[in-house]
Order: sequence, then structure tokens, then C-alpha cells
Amino acid sequence: MSDSLAVDRQGPVGLVRMNRPERHNAFDDAIIAELTETLRTMEADDGVRVVVLSGAGKSFSAGADLNWMKRMAGFSAEENKRDAMGLATLMRTLAHLRKPTVARVHGAAYGGGVGLVACCDVAIATCNATFALTEAKLGLIPAAISPYVVSAIGERAARRYFITAERFDAAEAFRLGLVHELAQDEAALDEKLGAVVEAMLACSPAAQLAAKDLIRAVSNRPVTSELIQDTAERIAKIRSSPEGREGVAAFLEKRRAAWVPPPPSE
Ligand code: COA
Repeated sequence: MSDSLAVDRQGPVGLVRMNRPERHNAFDDAIIAELTETLRTMEADDGVRVVVLSGAGKSFSAGADLNWMKRMAGFSAEENKRDAMGLATLMRTLAHLRKPTVARVHGAAYGGGVGLVACCDVAIATCNATFALTEAKLGLIPAAISPYVVSAIGERAARRYFITAERFDAAEAFRLGLVHELAQDEAALDEKLGAVVEAMLACSPAAQLAAKDLIRAVSNRPVTSELIQDTAERIAKIRSSPEGREGVAAFLEKRRAAWVPPPPSE
């Protein structure tokens, strides 16, 4: 692995840090491939229960490396399509990861950086973080990230920010729902991150996976009899599953469920 990613483990938490601070963690095709591979490895590792994505240095991520964009402009249409699939694959891998994901956002999150934030289940940012979908200003469009960004901020806000490329602040990102929580500074950010991770670890991994799948199944769908039937089948299945039984039994028996890590004192 190159130095552009720093990967670590803290018990059941997989830490993925983009590590190209001199370029505000802008990513090119090689970093995209590495990041995708790292996420897949963590997804396959039973020891990893939660994945935290962050950036080293001043920023979360300045998005696509513009030198890479410039380089690709000289390639054929076919090569461009193949190359662009790399970013689309990264976004889908992150958005559909079979484990809970958290974005730790500070400094700038621009272009593809906003995409990464939108793909995570939970996003927490410092109050002075800034966001922008700058593509139109560069003569481009935020294509690969659009399904996730539009789903996070809604069509109305996307209409504005995709075509003005205006920078917006953390308060606006919070108002739009792109980030769930704001923190005064990076120390407070880590504290809030710790609390979210702890909450995630207290939940059943199988239920979290089923919940992510459920959200995708019901989002933007009309409530038809098929959909109602589908939701009934999902709860029927999970309440008789091992983790469904264990979670309910643990509550009634006033004990910790099997998947909850013991408190540090034990
Ligand atoms: N691709 C390639 N290089 C980038 C980059 C990107 N997306 N974002 C920043 N860099 C480079 C800068 O060119 C600069 O390189 P240099 O030191 O060789 O001049 C270096 O990173 C530091 O950036 P700088 O602009 O001097 O830092 P800043 O603190 O003033 O601003 C940003 C930081 C992120 C706000 C600013 O660099 C920026 O707007 N970047 C473009 C982000 C963008 O539009 N991304 C979407 C791409 S589709």
C-alpha cells in the first residue's frame, strides 16, 4: 500500500485516513483503487465492526485530483469511461458497505470529498469545515457522486449547489442533512465520533446490515401492498434470527447482548 492511505485498527473499529495532506487529500485513480480495496478488506474482516473515514492534515478531502482529471482529458472516450467507473465503484462500495461507516470531517470537503461524506452512514464535522460541489466551475459535473449527494441533501439543494459551485459552511451542511452533527473543534469532533461509534457497537451487526438494506428498499418507493409485505417479511425474518433472539433476550434478562463490547473496567 502507498503512503496515501493510513489504515489502522482500534479494537473493532477500522480507521481509514486519507493521507495526502499536501494536496488536501485529493485522490487520483491509484488512491481510489486503494481506498476501494481497503474498504473491501475491512468489509470482509469479521473483526471490524465499524469503519471511520478521515483525512490527514488541514482537510478531509479536496476531491478528485485535478492533475488526474487533466491527464484523463487526453485519453479516448472508452478509456475515460473505464477510468470513471473507478470512482463510481468506490462510492458504491462505501455507500453499500456491510458495516456502519462514519465520516470525520474537518477543513475542506470538496467535490468527491462531499461524495465520500454522503456515502457514509453518519457524518460529523467541525464548525469550520467547508463544503463545495465545485465541478461546474471547472467545466465538469459531480456525476459519480450524484446519487449519494442528491439522496443526502435532496434535489432542491442539489439544484443550487451543483450549478452554482458555491462554497457552503458546516451550519449549512448540517441544515441540509449532509452532516448529522457539528463539533466546536477537532477534540470535540473526536469525542462525538467516539460516542457515535460506541452507539454503533452496542447494536447488532446483523441488524445494522439488515437496516441499511431496509432503507434502500423503502427509500423513494410508493407504499404499495408489495412494499408492506416486504417490510413484514423483513421483521418476521430478523426477530427469529440468532441476533434478533439474543437482543430481545438480553434486554428482558437485563444483561449485555453478546455483540456489545465489555466496558473498559471489565
Ligand atoms: N487536485 C489537485 N491538487 C489540489 C486539489 C485537487 N483537487 N486541491 C488542492 N490541490 C493542491 C493545490 O493545487 C496546491 O498545490 P501547490 O502547493 O502545488 O500549489 C495544494 O494542493 C494546496 O492547495 P491550496 O489551494 O494552496 O490550499 P488552500 O488551503 O488555499 O485551499 C482548497 C484548499 C481545498 C480549498 C483548494 O485547494 C481548492 O479549492 N481545491 C480544489 C478542490 C476542488 O475543486 N475539488 C473538486 C475537484 S472535481
